[in-house]
Amino acid sequence: MVAFRRGVKIAIIGLGQVGASTAFAIMASGIASELVLIDINREKAEGEAMDLGDAAAFTKPINVYEGTYADCQGAQIVIFTAGANQKPGETRLDLMEKNVTILKQAMPQLVKYCEKSILIMVTNPVDVLTYIALKTSELPPNQVFGSGTVLDTSRFKAALAQHCQVDPRNVHTYIVGEHGDSEVALWSSANIAGVSLDDFFQLRGLAPLNREQLAEQVKTAAYEIIQRKGATYYAVALSIKRICEAVLRDENSILTVSGLVKGSYGIEDCCLSLPCIVNGLGRAETVVLPLSVEEEDALRRSAKLLKDIIKQAGF
Ligand code: LAC
Repeated sequence: MVAFRRGVKIAIIGLGQVGASTAFAIMASGIASELVLIDINREKAEGEAMDLGDAAAFTKPINVYEGTYADCQGAQIVIFTAGANQKPGETRLDLMEKNVTILKQAMPQLVKYCEKSILIMVTNPVDVLTYIALKTSELPPNQVFGSGTVLDTSRFKAALAQHCQVDPRNVHTYIVGEHGDSEVALWSSANIAGVSLDDFFQLRGLAPLNREQLAEQVKTAAYEIIQRKGATYYAVALSIKRICEAVLRDENSILTVSGLVKGSYGIEDCCLSLPCIVNGLGRAETVVLPLSVEEEDALRRSAKLLKDIIKQAGF
């Protein structure tokens, strides 16, 4: 009899606001039957598991428990959210030193217990930490990737949908590059109902759009939220849940996850976000969209910035 896993196990490392919100999103979605919560503060993780467990009658059956890295064994997906998050006025890159240190401390355990799992990096600066996790683990690039600009792409779609008064799921466009200040909005390939934005605006008699202003609104969304409530966690949690769904259901969904770029757009040996096919293999392959000259230049600037930061981190 071929041995097969009966259920779907996901491990979350780091039970801060992002990790706890992700646990909630995954439990409510019903995509997993086992959820192990790992944090240096074991009591906190246990409290989150107990709180979620009390909702068992409202969700599909799921075993939620506090555990250790050893409990990552057998998990289809391990989500890494441990680390500090941005404080008002901080950029994601400002978090690098302290979060790279936390990742380095965790790597031996990740390598020991997660070698057969898809490892999704979330901790910021996510592109830098994804690169470090990939290189240190020596796992294949489809297996280690980051949440990247999946959230930014959702912010971009939501802002465009608001202007056009349509369902965000009918807006097709992407944010690529760094999950951060150098991210790039792909206007040249943006479309709604299969027509270009300009044609759709004309079709619907919509007011013209200030593209620079909207792109800036998307880029600074996290800062605006952090200024008001101190952190962001719900939308990133739902973007992580969306990535897990695409992996676990082998969907071949196109998502802008962060991963190793090997030559696309002249970019080598850097982790950043591009539209990728996400399925049971993880970040299976990149969809190399045609970009405008300005978009390609901006993407290469984003890559150079990230490569400089990765070098500063000693990798
Ligand atoms: C944000 C955090 C997850 O963009 O970087 O909200």
